[in-house]
Amino acid sequence: MSVSTIAAASLSVKPLSDALGADVEGVDLARLDDATFAHIARAWADYLVLRFRAQRLSDIDLMAFSRRFGALDRVPIRANDVMDIGDPRIAIDASAREYVTIISNVKIGGMAIGGLGNYESSWHTDMSYNETPPSASLLYGIEVPPSGGDTSFCNMYLAYDTLDAATRERIANLTCIHDASRNSSGELRRGFADHDDPAKTVGARHPLVRRHPVTKRACLFLGRRRNAFIPELPPDESERLLDRLWKHATQDRFTWTQQWQQHDLVIWDNRCAMHRRDGFDDRYARVMHRTQVVGTKPERFG
Ligand code: SIN
Repeated sequence: MSVSTIAAASLSVKPLSDALGADVEGVDLARLDDATFAHIARAWADYLVLRFRAQRLSDIDLMAFSRRFGALDRVPIRANDVMDIGDPRIAIDASAREYVTIISNVKIGGMAIGGLGNYESSWHTDMSYNETPPSASLLYGIEVPPSGGDTSFCNMYLAYDTLDAATRERIANLTCIHDASRNSSGELRRGFADHDDPAKTVGARHPLVRRHPVTKRACLFLGRRRNAFIPELPPDESERLLDRLWKHATQDRFTWTQQWQQHDLVIWDNRCAMHRRDGFDDRYARVMHRTQVVGTKPERFG
């Protein structure tokens, strides 16, 4: 038996809920071989979100694992000037600065070292307002609060499959404009006008039902609720239909919630799973390092 076969055989995949998510055990992501990765890729297609506990990953390891899923997305690095103070939670390896970003509430000298603070974030698909949203996001827990800051995930295949036939038919050829003006915590991005008229939404237009490029399955693609607009419908009809689809898609039975431990690595499929985050007590630090994998333009199903 080759070394890689032994490594793959030691891996186990344990579902975390009926909806999505699985724990992958028996693997060290810093020392991954191709055969083990093939098992992980299959489990990811089946479970949409994978959790690997007790991983000790440098930024280089995090990037190397992320790259197995595709080319890395460049991310804006915030707070460059607080990175060299020697704090191991926030020091990003020089060669990783283009690809690893910090999600954190920590402030140093009054300056936020990362994004999203301690706020709650609402259900969303990462960067769905872009023409080609990332295919995967990976989040690695460097320091986590004793409670709060949980991240929930929602299975958008299930959301689609459980719609009644008339609704599936109604939305088959509809598109949605995804609002680029605010982040998932509701903060207005620089350069965008503040408005709450969905008909004025600026952002990418995507099919409401997309075909997953790997599994070929249909999933509901909602992206983000605020200022979303279905341009084929009058504004009030667009609002009513979106409210109904969002209520349906975010039912508890389609979700699973990750309660973070230090050194958890979680990867989610950004094409067929949405996520949201709970707020947490700002007296505790939460520091996560994150990568994203370049995706493809969402394709209409059917
Ligand atoms: C996000 O909402 O994209 C961040 C997820 C997290 O911080 O857990």
